[in-house]
Amino acid sequence: MGGRLEGKVAIITGTGSGMGRAAARMFAREGAKVVGCDIRPDAHEVADEVRAAGGEMVSLQPVDLSAQSGAERLVAFALDAYGGFDIIYNNAAMAYFAFIPDMDFETFARTQREEVDIIFHLCRAAWPHLIARGGGSIINIASTAAKKGSAGQGMVAHSAAKGAVTAMTRQYATEGGAHRIRANTISPGMIRSAQTEPLMLQPGWTERAIARQVIKRIGEPDDVVATALFLASDESSFITGADIAVDGGTMAN
Ligand SMILES: NC(=O)c1ccc[n+]([C@@H]2O[C@H](COP(=O)([O-])OP(=O)(O)OC[C@H]3O[C@@H](n4cnc5c(N)ncnc54)[C@H](O)[C@@H]3O)[C@@H](O)[C@H]2O)c1
Repeated sequence: MGGRLEGKVAIITGTGSGMGRAAARMFAREGAKVVGCDIRPDAHEVADEVRAAGGEMVSLQPVDLSAQSGAERLVAFALDAYGGFDIIYNNAAMAYFAFIPDMDFETFARTQREEVDIIFHLCRAAWPHLIARGGGSIINIASTAAKKGSAGQGMVAHSAAKGAVTAMTRQYATEGGAHRIRANTISPGMIRSAQTEPLMLQPGWTERAIARQVIKRIGEPDDVVATALFLASDESSFITGADIAVDGGTMAN
């Protein structure tokens, strides 16, 4: 076990899969008390695994964080478990893809609920408790989709949502300054996860994705989570309102 998050309590959303699961493991290894959650009923398995490895983690599932009541339930659960929290890691989201002629408004609006509202509700519920704690770190997961279009994938709803995530995070940073609350985004490129593995099975898809990158490999969950660990820790105490690309150089190319 390292100690980069010793003494800190971290709420991590979407710990039932992908990067959220990797984050629960890494944050616990670094000494954080982890509050996980997911809409998936089997998400408790990650908490069982973390505790078996000697870490500290509780987990709330199933909970739908795109609803205000879900976010409030999560904050109450975290307060009950640990009395407060220092880190909000907004990882959970669900993206829906369709090209412009096929993107109906219902799916567009659903994407905003499950990618933008999901962050608003948790930050809204957590904010007074972060202030009471004397500050904290908010990490919101955006995407390269916030900054560039894609000819290969219908991203009109997803790009609108992730653009909103980067924009609203600057506002959290701005209003949070007086309360020692920092807020930053990470913009991952193509990362291996439950949402991308089906795409990777399509012939030629991985090769095309890698061709857009400077670093010629698929990103792994820990590439993103290591960045989140830095943003969660006091090592980044002078960083707020920033967006860090973890994309193998896609945006530089
Ligand atoms: N994988 C990529 O290539 C990639 C690229 C850029 C950004 N991202 C972002 O990274 C984050 C994590 O994605 P991932 O690839 O690990 O996906 P994932 O599907 O493996 O994990 C997301 C988790 O969030 C949970 N979740 C989704 N909606 C929820 C809700 N309403 N309430 C509670 N839990 C909910 C899911 O059940 C799942 O366990 C997301 O914000 C995603 O948009 C991913």
